[in-house]
Amino acid sequence: MFTLAPMNPSSTHAYDRARTTPRALATEAVHAGRDDLARQGLHAPPIDLSTTYPSYDSRGEAARIDAFAADGALPEGTPVYGRLGNPTVARFETALARLEGTESAVAFASGMAALSAVLLARASTGLRHVVAVRPLYGCSDHLLTAGLLGSEVTWVDPAGIADALRPDTGLVLVESPANPTLAELDLRAIAHACGSVPLLADNTFATPVLQRPVEHGARLVLHSATKYLGGHGDVMAGVVACDEEFAGRLRQVRFATGGVLHPLAGYLLLRGLATLPVRVRAASATAAELARRLAADPRVARVHYPRIGGAMVAFEVHGDPHEVIAGVRLVTPAVSLGSVDTLIQHPASISHRIVAEPDRHGAGVSDRLLRMSVGLEDVEDLWGDLDGALGTDRRSRRSVSAPGPSRTADGRPLVSRPGGR
Ligand SMILES: Cc1ncc(COP(=O)(O)O)c(C=O)c1O
Repeated sequence: MFTLAPMNPSSTHAYDRARTTPRALATEAVHAGRDDLARQGLHAPPIDLSTTYPSYDSRGEAARIDAFAADGALPEGTPVYGRLGNPTVARFETALARLEGTESAVAFASGMAALSAVLLARASTGLRHVVAVRPLYGCSDHLLTAGLLGSEVTWVDPAGIADALRPDTGLVLVESPANPTLAELDLRAIAHACGSVPLLADNTFATPVLQRPVEHGARLVLHSATKYLGGHGDVMAGVVACDEEFAGRLRQVRFATGGVLHPLAGYLLLRGLATLPVRVRAASATAAELARRLAADPRVARVHYPRIGGAMVAFEVHGDPHEVIAGVRLVTPAVSLGSVDTLIQHPASISHRIVAEPDRHGAGVSDRLLRMSVGLEDVEDLWGDLDGALGTDRRSRRSVSAPGPSRTADGRPLVSRPGGR
């Protein structure tokens, strides 16, 4: 477990000691964004639902708004208006920045709103060209390919990044491990190839528990906070962790375009962060074991599991992937990931459907690929369910089990479990 460096040694806040003493990731996950609470006589963080904040000093407000327009720094003192900033959301932003090791973080209504804000921030300075490596999450791919925000994309292999850079390149965009193939990239080498162009690493799959991209040279770290950061499948959110200069631009874009995070979502995300290390480590151990069993199963053609670990497993089946989706009973057949329960989906049908088939195939997203987000259930229960769902492919099943297993009422094979469970 690594220890995080102090954030701001020169800060003058009353609760500075807690913020400036190096603390381990697990400690930050529980305490960051909450260091002032005990001083206020509180235990749970307050939820501030105000959309506006009274002030009798409109000259002062004008000065604060002018200051925000200049550099996007959060106004000191009471907030001004909900689209400018919210104290509950700010707690989540502080905590996530601490976990990712950045000066700042800016939260948005979804991961796509966060990516949109980054693209708009770059395009507004004339840097509308993006260099990107496939695969990316299907909608991120689509946003770039369709040029919805006026950006132009050049798709490259990692080795082609340096050659693809142009004077108007504003961003290099990668995911590692990537959605849905879990392909891993050498972020340090890529950051080097980017030169002065900011590298944005989507860290949704790894989370800061397994990987902190700024330590490898990325300038921007993006999360679909809808996933592991929230962790319970009940919050939609996005966040960009970065230096304060870039954060200021992102706050200005957020203020002007309105993709703000609701304070209730901010509260739930802060609560989710507290258990992030425990959830990610537990689910990763189960995922590694399932990946091992899938790799040894003759019904499975190929398993994708990242070297850095994690709770995502992808696998290609010999049989019909749609039958596996139709066959699960414990595992939830749904898109998204990072929840306490295990989810499985068929990328070619859902998460990456919007990507044109040749591009999908070119990125290694086979039509037989299934993507599974492993949750916190017992590994034997999960394996029993997967075994049953894979067993619906009777052709390959027959070749590995003789005599054939007895079947449950819904036609799935009965699974014998170690320990007689
Ligand atoms: C890697 C990755 N990035 C970004 C997004 C977009 O996030 P959201 O759905 O919160 O808008 C997703 C969504 O699945 C994702 O998987």
